[in-house]
Amino acid sequence: MGADLERVLITEDEIHAKLAELAEEIAAEYAGKDVLLVGVLKGAVMVMADLMRALPMTVPVDWMAVSSYGSGTKSSGVVRILKDLDADISGKHVLIVEDIVDSGLTLSWIRANLESRNPASVEIVTLLRKPEAAKVEVDVRWVGFDIPNEFVVGYGLDYAEQYRGLRQVGTLAPHVYS
Ligand code: IMP
Repeated sequence: MGADLERVLITEDEIHAKLAELAEEIAAEYAGKDVLLVGVLKGAVMVMADLMRALPMTVPVDWMAVSSYGSGTKSSGVVRILKDLDADISGKHVLIVEDIVDSGLTLSWIRANLESRNPASVEIVTLLRKPEAAKVEVDVRWVGFDIPNEFVVGYGLDYAEQYRGLRQVGTLAPHVYS
């Protein structure tokens, strides 16, 4: 599966080192607070799994799944909830755990949706961000890596549901698309 990659942008070691740094900052921020990690399926599974294990404290985790209506691979910002959170988040400090912020449309919708449920706070941590692709400003508290505006796969991110299991993040070779 790694042979389908054209270029590795971020290695497994770099990802783990960055998540360890982020976990330290996140642990300091939420010390003594009632925090809930919210992952967005399916891309965030790897970040969630590694981030929660990097945290020095035990934290509850919940998941949302959304579908974003758009043309092809472009997100439109019109979002439908496919799977909602299991629990009520009122009064809780919510930390949304994301794999990538691209246009920001999906995440800004999710954030507004969660904020309407009276949580104590809502913050976002994302492993990757494409600053050049931003269509809306989303206030992301913790960013692992800013990357160029290219389609990437691996570490949870897919192309046609494939490549999520790659341990690194990279771009696909042209032969995969043809
Ligand atoms: P946004 O609404 O444009 O920010 O879309 C975010 C979602 O699109 C992410 O959660 C990913 O599921 C998907 N996405 C955006 N860029 C990529 C990419 O480069 N590779 C794989 N999936 C991506």
